[in-house]
Order: sequence, then C-alpha cells, then structure tokens
Amino acid sequence: MHYSKIIGLGHHMPENVITNEYLSTVMETNNEWIVERTGIKERRWMDPAKDTVANMAAKATRMALERAKLSEKDVDFIVFATITPDYFFPGSGVLLQRELGLESIPALDIRNACSGFIYALSVADQFIKTGMYKTVLVVGAEIQSTALDISTRGRNTAVIFGDGAGAVILRASEKPGILSTHLHSDGRFAEELYVKDPGSSRPHKERQPEQILDTSSFKVVMNGNQVFKYAVVKFMEVIQEALQANNLKKEDINLLVPHQANLRISQYIQEKLELSDSQVYNNIMRYGNTTAASIPIALSEAWAEGKIKENDLLCLAAFGSGFTWASALIRW
Ligand code: UT7
Repeated sequence: MHYSKIIGLGHHMPENVITNEYLSTVMETNNEWIVERTGIKERRWMDPAKDTVANMAAKATRMALERAKLSEKDVDFIVFATITPDYFFPGSGVLLQRELGLESIPALDIRNACSGFIYALSVADQFIKTGMYKTVLVVGAEIQSTALDISTRGRNTAVIFGDGAGAVILRASEKPGILSTHLHSDGRFAEELYVKDPGSSRPHKERQPEQILDTSSFKVVMNGNQVFKYAVVKFMEVIQEALQANNLKKEDINLLVPHQANLRISQYIQEKLELSDSQVYNNIMRYGNTTAASIPIALSEAWAEGKIKENDLLCLAAFGSGFTWASALIRW
C-alpha cells in the first residue's frame, strides 16, 4: 500500500497590497465594517504587467520544490486547482507545465472553487495510491481581482477576494501521509456564488462580446448570508466525517487549516472543536479569500513559521461555490 506525503510547500503572493482604506475611497465601505464582518485588513491584487495565474503558480512551485529538495524534472503529474484560469481554455495546468519547462507530463485542471485544493489533493492522492505516479505537484492559484465589481454595487464580494498561489509536492511514501480525503457537492446552490459568463448555454448572439451591453454577468455574484449559513454547518460535518473515518477525536487535531473564507467562519469552527488560537491557522487578515489558493498558501506559511511538526495531525477543510465542501486529515 502506497501512501502520499506532502514533502514540500510553497506560495507566491502578488506585491500589490490593497488596503481596506483604499477600498473605502472607491466604494461605500469602511475598515470597521470589513474587519468586523470578515477579519480582512488587506489583500493582494495582481499587477497585469507581472502576474498571471500560471506564473504565480510556477513561483509557488519552485519554492515547494526547493523545500522538498527536488527539481522540476521530478514531477510526474500536475493537478491545478483554479476557477480563474488565464484562458477560458485551455486550463492553467498546461501553462504551468510550459513555465516549468516540462515536456509531455499530464496536467489536469480542477474547477471546484474554494474546495478546489482539497479536491486536487484527493485526486493526486488516488494516483499515488494506485502506483501510477510517484511525485505529484498540486497547485491552487487564482486571480479573482479582475472579475470583481469594484464599486458599491459589488462591495459584498469586492472587499473579500484576493489573488495568490500555493503549491505542494506530494510524494509516494511507505508511511502516511494523507490519511483520508472527503469530498461533497450540492448543485442545487450553484447560483448562490458564481460567475455566469462566459457561459456556453446562451443564444449565439449573447455569447458574442460585442453584443453584450450589460457585463455584470462576468462579475462574481454571491448571496453572502446563504453561503455563510451553509458554510458553518458543512465545515463542521465534513471535519467530523474525517475524524470518524479515522477513529480520531477533535482532541487529536494539532492544527486546523481551514479555507480562508471569513475569519468569523474559522472562529466558529474553532469554538465548536474547542481548539486554542495556536491550533487554527488564519492569514485571511493579510490576503482575503484567495479561493483554491487559500489552503496551500496557509499551509506553506504555517510550515515556514514552524507551526507544523513531525507526527502532527493536520486537518484541512473547505466550503465554497457549487456548493462544494471537503476535508482532509494528514499525519505529518
Ligand atoms: O469562499 C467561499 C465561501 N464564501 C463564504 O463563505 C462567504 C460567506 N459570507 C460572508 O462571509 C458574509 O456573508 C459577508 C462578509 C459576505 C457579508 O457579511 P454579512 O454579515 O452576511 O452582511 P450582509 O450581507 O447581511 O450585509 C449587511 C449589511 C447590508 O446593508 P443593509 O441591507 O443592512 O443596509 C449590506 O448592504 O452590510 C452591507 N454591506 C456592506 N457595508 C459596507 C455589504 N457589504 C458591505 C461592505 N461595506 N463591503
């Protein structure tokens, strides 16, 4: 039986810092509202002269490879979680493969929004367990900022989302590793958090950009209250499911790394699981919600800060558009 183990972590954030104060100058919002409702103080937004989803992912990958003491050539397979690929097609996986100078290895894009990284990790884990691949690069990278409605009309999403990239190197191992992953979805709620266009199921003329007068369908739409309500329930359910599947208890968790959707959601889970502040890693204050990138960025920072030790039990959990939700338990 092969297990897979994370042996390297990396991240890359755009340099461009967007503060709550700046947002208050371009829409009706204020620092107090944003901090109180979300915990976010600032986020990073891409610089079109420098950043692409694929090149941020490549920088995160190089950091992860260096920490794993491996080179690009050791990667057998790329699994790339993003809902904001550089092109409508092909996905950003192949662009990352090109950036890394790798020839012909497979690259798979995963489009499961905020749960995307755990879905990607799960896919990679299965390929390693079957023995098909030995070293898999799992990436989450997003540029959300360019799809936001940066006006008062879009303020419930414009203040939340940010850009960035995180990467992990997963390698076959005799010892665990990833103990289990748990994936779910409920498509009844697809339109509660979505970007409608460029969607395919339209009359021909509506899919032609020159015909589009109202471009709001290209922007992120979120029913924040509804998403929040489901998020707190499903986060807890999927964490309990992972613990039960491994005969473990909440007391066994050393570090919880939740998807960074809202500090209030993280705090709610922390309270329910009776974890101390040092047992939950949050960086939403500095980066906002970076969708599929948030967990690998947080993991990379937590590791660099010495918060993850040998034999620790790590719990990852996420909830987002779809709705989709997911968890993973990892023995470090
Ligand atoms: O990562 C994927 C999963 N995403 C999530 O889990 C996000 C879940 N949802 C949330 O985090 C929260 O619902 C939000 C942070 C988006 C919103 O917080 P809320 O406490 O649910 O606020 P609300 O939407 O109920 O809005 C309360 C008020 C409204 O004004 P009225 O109608 O009470 O006069 C909004 O118009 O706050 C207003 N508002 C704002 N005010 C200042 C909404 N956005 C802003 C803003 N600045 N940026």
